[in-house]
Amino acid sequence: MVGNQLKRLDGPIFITGHTGFKGSWLSLLLNHLGIEHFGYSLEAEEHSLYKRANLERVSRGVVGDIRDLENLSKVIKDVRPSVVIHLAAQPLVLKSYQDPLETFQTNCIGTANVLKAAFETPSVEIVLVITTDKVYRNDNSGKRFVESDPLEGKDPYSASKVAAEAVCAAWQQMSKISVGPKVLIARAGNVIGGGDFAKNRLIPDAIRAIISEQNLFVRSPKATRPWQHVLDPLIGYLKYLESAQSSLSVELSLNFGPLEPSLRVDDVLEIAKEHFQERLNVTYKEASQEIESQTLELDPSCAIAKLGWRPQWNQEESIDRTFMWWAKTLATPNNALENCLEDIEIAIGKAL
Ligand SMILES: NC(=O)c1ccc[n+]([C@@H]2O[C@H](COP(=O)([O-])OP(=O)(O)OC[C@H]3O[C@@H](n4cnc5c(N)ncnc54)[C@H](O)[C@@H]3O)[C@@H](O)[C@H]2O)c1
Repeated sequence: MVGNQLKRLDGPIFITGHTGFKGSWLSLLLNHLGIEHFGYSLEAEEHSLYKRANLERVSRGVVGDIRDLENLSKVIKDVRPSVVIHLAAQPLVLKSYQDPLETFQTNCIGTANVLKAAFETPSVEIVLVITTDKVYRNDNSGKRFVESDPLEGKDPYSASKVAAEAVCAAWQQMSKISVGPKVLIARAGNVIGGGDFAKNRLIPDAIRAIISEQNLFVRSPKATRPWQHVLDPLIGYLKYLESAQSSLSVELSLNFGPLEPSLRVDDVLEIAKEHFQERLNVTYKEASQEIESQTLELDPSCAIAKLGWRPQWNQEESIDRTFMWWAKTLATPNNALENCLEDIEIAIGKAL
C-alpha cells in the first residue's frame, strides 16, 4: 500500500526549490502523507502554482539562494532534516542558451553547496539530487537510456546537469571514504501536471495561448518526449528514499519514466484539443534541430525492479489529467489547490 509504505519515511525533509512546479506538488504530497518538510527557494514566480494555489498557507519554508552557502548552511542546520531533496535549479533549455553562466552557477555550484551544507549537518542521512533525462549522450537514435549509459549534455542546461552529476559522484566518493550521508540521483522525463507555467514548455505555452486567445507556435511537432505526470516521479522519489533508509545497499542513480515509448508533441496537442476545442489554435514553425533533441526515451526498468515503483498513469492519461486540471482551474481559479488534492488522492489511491 503505497500511502502506508511512504508514511514510513522519516522526516523532516528539506526541499530546495519548494516554490517551483515540482516542489509545490511535492510539498502537497508530503502534507497528504503527514511527513514534515521545510523548503528553501527563491521567491515564487508570479503565475506559479505556488501562488495560484496560495501554497504559502500550507507549506513551511524560507526565501534563500542555493548560491549563498553561508545562509543555506545556517538554514539546513536549524531545520536538522534527515533527508534533503534537491530540486532547485535553472531548469529551462532555451534560457540556458541566454544565460549559461547563471545556469552553471545555480545547477552545478548550487548542487555542490547543497551537498557541502548537508554533509556538515549531522542529522542528514540522505541527499537526493534531481537531475534529468537530458543528461544522457543523445544521438537521436531513439535509444531507451539506462542508468549506466554515458552522460553528455549538449546544450548548457543539460551540460550543467551533467556537471551536477559529476559533483554528486565526488560527494558519493567522500561519503564512501569517510562517514557521510548517502547521495542519490533521480533522473525523470518530461514532467507535466497542473500549474506548470514555465516559459518555452509545450503545455504551459498552450495554456498561455488559450488564456490570451493567441495562436500557439510549435517548434517540433514530431519530436518525442517521455511525458509523465508529476506525481509519478515524486512518488518514485519517496519510494527511493524509503528504500535507502531501510536497506544498506541502494542504487546510486535511478531513472523514473513512462513504461511505453515516448509520445510526439502533436499527440499532446490532439489531447489538448479534446479539452479546449477551437480555443486552441496551433501554428507550426521551423526550428533549428540543433537546439533540442528530437527523440528522448528513458528506461525505468531498474526503478521498477528495485523499488516496486510503477507509473500510475500512462502518458495519454497523464496528458489528459494535466489538461483536465487546467480546464477546471481556468473555469474556477480559486479551486487550484482543491484540484491538486484531487489528483493526489487519485494517484495514491491508484497505487494501492
Ligand atoms: N519539469 C520537468 O519537466 C523536469 C524534468 C526533469 C527534471 N527536472 C528537474 O526538476 C527540478 C525542478 O524543476 P521544476 O520544473 O519544478 O522547475 P521550476 O522552475 O518550476 O522550479 C525551480 C525551483 O528552483 C528554485 N531556484 C532556482 N534557482 C534557485 C537558486 N539560485 N536558489 C534557490 N532556489 C532556486 C526556484 O525558486 C523554484 O522553486 C529541477 O532540478 C529540474 O531540472 C524537471
